[in-house]
Amino acid sequence: MTKPSCEYQPGLEGIPVAQSSISFVDGKNGILEYRGINIEELAQKSTFLETAYLLIWGKLPTKDELANFQDEITRHRRVKYHIRDMMKCFPESGHPMDALQTSAAALGLFYSRRALAKEEYIRDAVVRLLAKIPTMVAAFAQMRMGNDPVQPSDNLNYAANFLYMLTEKEPEPLEARIFDVCLMLHAEHTMNASTFSAMVTASTLTDPYAVVASAVGTLAGPLHGGANEEVLVMLEEIGSVENVRPYIEDCIENKKKIMGFGHRVYKVKDPRAKILQQLAERLFELTGHDEYYDIALEVEKVVTEKLGHKGIYANVDFYSGLVYRKLGIKPDLFTPMFAISRVAGWLAHWKEQLAVNRIFRPTQVYIGDRGIPYVAIEDR
Ligand code: ACO
Repeated sequence: MTKPSCEYQPGLEGIPVAQSSISFVDGKNGILEYRGINIEELAQKSTFLETAYLLIWGKLPTKDELANFQDEITRHRRVKYHIRDMMKCFPESGHPMDALQTSAAALGLFYSRRALAKEEYIRDAVVRLLAKIPTMVAAFAQMRMGNDPVQPSDNLNYAANFLYMLTEKEPEPLEARIFDVCLMLHAEHTMNASTFSAMVTASTLTDPYAVVASAVGTLAGPLHGGANEEVLVMLEEIGSVENVRPYIEDCIENKKKIMGFGHRVYKVKDPRAKILQQLAERLFELTGHDEYYDIALEVEKVVTEKLGHKGIYANVDFYSGLVYRKLGIKPDLFTPMFAISRVAGWLAHWKEQLAVNRIFRPTQVYIGDRGIPYVAIEDR
């Protein structure tokens, strides 16, 4: 029997599970880099698809490489009618993350099951998943309201096309740009729960659709991607700036987690939260002030005052919901927005994993009894 080489750590805290050159995070100084490039610089100068290319292939694309990649994605945006028909049978009240997880897994029914570490196989899967996931999210959002899905528009870029499929209205260029930056900010974040889940699934050499479906399931929980939806619920519950202090004090007294705060790695304000806050402010200039923003600012002030000494500050989920709300996106679609973007990071790790794969098979510390005799049912 293999002996455990280190102590059991709940949540695998501090245990490296991979060697990776995809992203770097410095939680003490609030730094996040994708392939060595600071997220703030990418947010100013790049686009989501260029960033996805960088994450997955490890370098910024040339003009031609980027144009080809964008073209391929545009050509693969449609989903097969079988998948649309299947989605029509989903209950309208079902959560969009469950709809997405099911439809992502369903893509595997149409494409090769066995993952191959070959450039062509990887490229096809990357293009299909990046192209089709937004279409499936928007299709479910339309179908649950009784509408036919809006077909993708070849004339719109990645972010603008998604907002168009979701709202049936072409967004303002600034709205599309802000959404694109949100996608970049959420695209990758080292060894988080959903990425680890993707890697465990990838390590069995199953298909990349199953890898993404696993990761979507993991992202859905309120301690991970689901927190952005919970932030809006919390701001609604608080209702006014005056209620912030008693609400937060009550949470702290009753050991209730304040959504959108705290992070396993960041012990300062998440750099993505800073950028998202600036984006929210730019959006409010375009579309009008949001009273929830005043509540959010007060929440951040009080939480920082009360919990800052424990290293608990606003994380990426705190301001993203306010941006999405202003873009006309419903709260239960916030986590699918995260998923659309994080597909890039999951696929980058999938590709990296395929190159050096060894199946994940950790160990456990058994704490149960041993050698217990079986007791017949009539004697229990
Ligand atoms: N509100 C109040 N207290 C908190 C919070 C919070 N949001 N986060 C951590 N704490 C406290 C805990 O109560 C605990 O206190 P204690 O030592 O007195 O018992 C201490 O800080 C450590 O908390 P853990 O939950 O053990 O920290 P961990 O690293 O395991 O969890 C997590 C990190 C899950 C993100 C946590 O901070 C949390 O639940 N936050 C709220 C949910 C959230 O916003 N999630 C999104 C994270 S970002 C992302 O996944 C994209």
